[in-house]
Amino acid sequence: MVDKTSIDTSSPMDDMENVSTNNSGNRPFDEVLSASVSRRAMMKGSLAVAGASFLAPGVVGAAPYAKARQSLDKSNDLIGFSPLTTDEVASAGGKTVTISSDYEYQVLIPWGTPINPRSGVKEYTGDPKTRPTAAEAAQQIGLGHDGMWFFPANLPDARRSDMFVYKRLSKMSPKTSRATKRRLENRMGKWPLNNRVGMLCINHEYGTNPHALGKEYPESRADVRLSQAIHGVSVVAIARNFRGKWRVISSRKSRRITVNTPVTFSGPAADSQLLKNTANNRPKGTVNNCGAGPTPWGTYVTCEENFNGYFGDASGDWVANTAQERYGFASDGFGYGWHEFDKRFDLSNPDYANEHNRFGWCVEIDPFKPNSKPVKRTAMGRFKHESAAFLPEKFDKRAVCYMGDDQRGDYCYKYVSDKPWRDHLLDGESPLDHGTLYVAQFRTGGNGNDGMGSGKWLELSMDIPELAAKFSNLGEILINARLAADIVGATPMDRPEWSTIGTDGEVYWTFTNNDRKDDGSGKVSEANPIFENTDGHIIKTIDTSDTTFEWSIFILARDTRRPDDAPAADPKDKGYAAYSAPADGGDNVFTDPDAAWADPFGRLFIGTDGSQPDGLQDQLVVFDVQTGEYKRLLSGVASDEITGITTTPDYRTMFTNTQHPGDGDPTLTNFPAKFDGVTIPRDCTLVITKKKGGVVGS
Ligand code: FEO
Ligand code: CA
Ligand code: CA
Repeated sequence: MVDKTSIDTSSPMDDMENVSTNNSGNRPFDEVLSASVSRRAMMKGSLAVAGASFLAPGVVGAAPYAKARQSLDKSNDLIGFSPLTTDEVASAGGKTVTISSDYEYQVLIPWGTPINPRSGVKEYTGDPKTRPTAAEAAQQIGLGHDGMWFFPANLPDARRSDMFVYKRLSKMSPKTSRATKRRLENRMGKWPLNNRVGMLCINHEYGTNPHALGKEYPESRADVRLSQAIHGVSVVAIARNFRGKWRVISSRKSRRITVNTPVTFSGPAADSQLLKNTANNRPKGTVNNCGAGPTPWGTYVTCEENFNGYFGDASGDWVANTAQERYGFASDGFGYGWHEFDKRFDLSNPDYANEHNRFGWCVEIDPFKPNSKPVKRTAMGRFKHESAAFLPEKFDKRAVCYMGDDQRGDYCYKYVSDKPWRDHLLDGESPLDHGTLYVAQFRTGGNGNDGMGSGKWLELSMDIPELAAKFSNLGEILINARLAADIVGATPMDRPEWSTIGTDGEVYWTFTNNDRKDDGSGKVSEANPIFENTDGHIIKTIDTSDTTFEWSIFILARDTRRPDDAPAADPKDKGYAAYSAPADGGDNVFTDPDAAWADPFGRLFIGTDGSQPDGLQDQLVVFDVQTGEYKRLLSGVASDEITGITTTPDYRTMFTNTQHPGDGDPTLTNFPAKFDGVTIPRDCTLVITKKKGGVVGS
């Protein structure tokens, strides 16, 4: 079952003739160069990395758009837009999306949009009397829009060109002059990437039975197949027309990946008996795809989060073992009822005893190879993966990926490849199959009361005696990563959600909330200082070596509340948790940080997921990470969640999602339809642009 990488390292000449036709609307080469002046040079910040070049080879979308760059420099204000006010949000009554007066948005790919306009499949438009069939749904955009990434159409050309140069560099004699090498190196990372056409990879995390099926519980196998078809991932070709409108275009690269799509396993656990069933069924599907991240080599990593909720017990006498308990499997799951009609999801069926171990992975998808199977990368561990943030190559030539495990009291992880990722690819193997998994231990620092400290990345491998004593091989450790992390002493956190990388290689981690420490779900610590942490917080870390890091609390979300709305202090809080009133008096209040994306200019975008104070809906807020200032850019509709953040390479078009609008209840909202109280609300992507043009967030 071990699958070699599907990454192509062949010569860029293969597609060279396509290049110029793909580049319309993009930047000339000299603009790219002038755009590369680093904002970091202007930044004070204590985390500066000496000697790092901003124009890093092969970093996806690293070079900003020259004009936007200049206007940023002039304004010297990263978040100069007029924030969306509480009153403006209130006026929409939760029925429609609202946005800063400096911005506009467009709806793209609502649930039910055919992924191929010429397929003959009809759009599902939210008619409450009907739903798509499973076969139709498998050719339409799914439900539960979440993590996503825009891959410019000419990215494979850029990637192949860089690999071609890297290959030549790696074969050069040591006697070759530095000047010659530098000339070649300077050819890397220079391809202007396409801002108008590309593949959008988007996760469909979930749709409840009432939303997807129009009923509380499946009544047939067909119902279950429909539910399974609205889950998974869409890879869909999109383009901007001359009027600036984005739409789905026909492409043979577009595809749906659902719970029933063939997949393969790769890495140290791929051949484990714990991934085999006596039914001998081939691995299929991905589920509860939450966050995601692009790899430096141009593929998409989608993260399987609450996979446990889709399994259940059809017999009535299944009893969870220790590992199943640790991963939260239960007789009824989350109420999807798949186990009643699909044996794979019946925990009590001995023929499918290990099916549940086949979920909980990072899954790599090549957006440009529609026939390639999604690959479950076992070296990255099995847990409730929230998202995957890869460190840009300018900070580390290896594949370094930061990942949260979203559960109260669960952990932060890091994966590091053995070699520079380009060397893995040249050796015909995946950088995600050969590496080390670590879990974070946040240590108290200083006087234990200042919201910062140091930390250890604890290795999860057979080299650790406590793990070698408990597990028989690395595959077993990776399949039971949570149990291994428990043993080595990882720090329980307040629900680790997304991670993202800042301009200096620092990592921002969102911790959405955790007010159940009283019942053993997590612990108060300096890194999780609030006992009843109903609002969540964001932590910044930076690695000081492979196995050490420094951390500091970036913000406690309750410190964005109005003083008269601040929760009372709890004697069980750590001292650092004392409330401090925000400079804006609470105008831009937000809680429950979840989705996160940092741009290369020093902005941090945060999508929220949880009931917001002051009558607000879930929202997208933008930080200037140097000053700590933040502003509200967009607000969603009743009972939705704002998640998934990606842009075109020029940073002028942003895509984000309203997920589960109204939780599917048409009496709350019918978005994206106008309010009629009847039409089923549909998850959709929101395309955000600045009215006067410019980088989104400025
Ligand atoms: Fe899928 Fe933890 O959010
Ligand atoms: Ca999330
Ligand atoms: Ca969340």
